[in-house]
Amino acid sequence: MRRWRLANQGRFVICFLEPEDAVHVIDTAAFVVRSYEPADAPALARNANDRGVWRNLRDAFPHPYTPADAEAFIARAIVQEPQTNFCIAVDGGAVGGIGFKPHQDVERFSAEIGYWLARAHRGKGIATAALRAVCAHAFEVHGLNRLYATPYAWNPASCRVLEKAGFEREGILRCAAFKDGQVVDQILYAKIRSAARFRAGDTAPAP
Ligand SMILES: CC(C)(COP(=O)(O)OP(=O)(O)OC[C@H]1O[C@@H](n2cnc3c(N)ncnc32)[C@H](O)[C@@H]1OP(=O)(O)O)[C@@H](O)C(=O)NCCC(=O)NCCS
Repeated sequence: MRRWRLANQGRFVICFLEPEDAVHVIDTAAFVVRSYEPADAPALARNANDRGVWRNLRDAFPHPYTPADAEAFIARAIVQEPQTNFCIAVDGGAVGGIGFKPHQDVERFSAEIGYWLARAHRGKGIATAALRAVCAHAFEVHGLNRLYATPYAWNPASCRVLEKAGFEREGILRCAAFKDGQVVDQILYAKIRSAARFRAGDTAPAP
């Protein structure tokens, strides 16, 4: 049986399904963040097949990104228990992804978070609003205490998204990554649960 948990967030109602079902993290007029569906594969492959996206993510994100990559990723994401990888969809089509990876042992309340959005939909506050909503989901549904991201130093847009979503810059991880043939610094950003509650009157997707 499907069970719903509702959280009122200003103009929007966030609906959480129990983990065995599809998850709807946030629904707005502009976009939704939800579980992947097998039918997302063609749009996911089309939008993810962008060197500029790959260049700002881990090498585990394929490039070129083929329909088979999309199908395999979606097949893994939808059986994950609990689900931690979500589709950003506009007008029903997959235009991006956002997910977090909880750690283990003493870091089991901490997770790395990552996201990307197709070029055609950037600059409208979608990534920031999606990030805020997934943070709230990770804190409140998964009981996590800390979320962090490590954008490459050449990625000011992602740093700005993190700052707008309430992440604080904690430091520079010097020469921490080797990406696209270059050694690159990573900027460590984190958001802590107690500072991450939705405030009364918040109206995502405000920039
Ligand atoms: C990072 C990314 C998700 C942002 O998506 P988005 O929906 O455009 O983000 P938003 O609209 O919520 O916010 C973008 C902010 O970055 C700013 N920005 C964009 N390009 C910038 C640049 N070159 N320098 C500084 N700020 C920049 C925008 O002005 C905006 O800030 P503002 O609202 O203060 O004007 C998108 O660019 C992307 O998918 N990039 C490739 C993958 C990636 O980098 N993922 C993150 C890995 S850590």
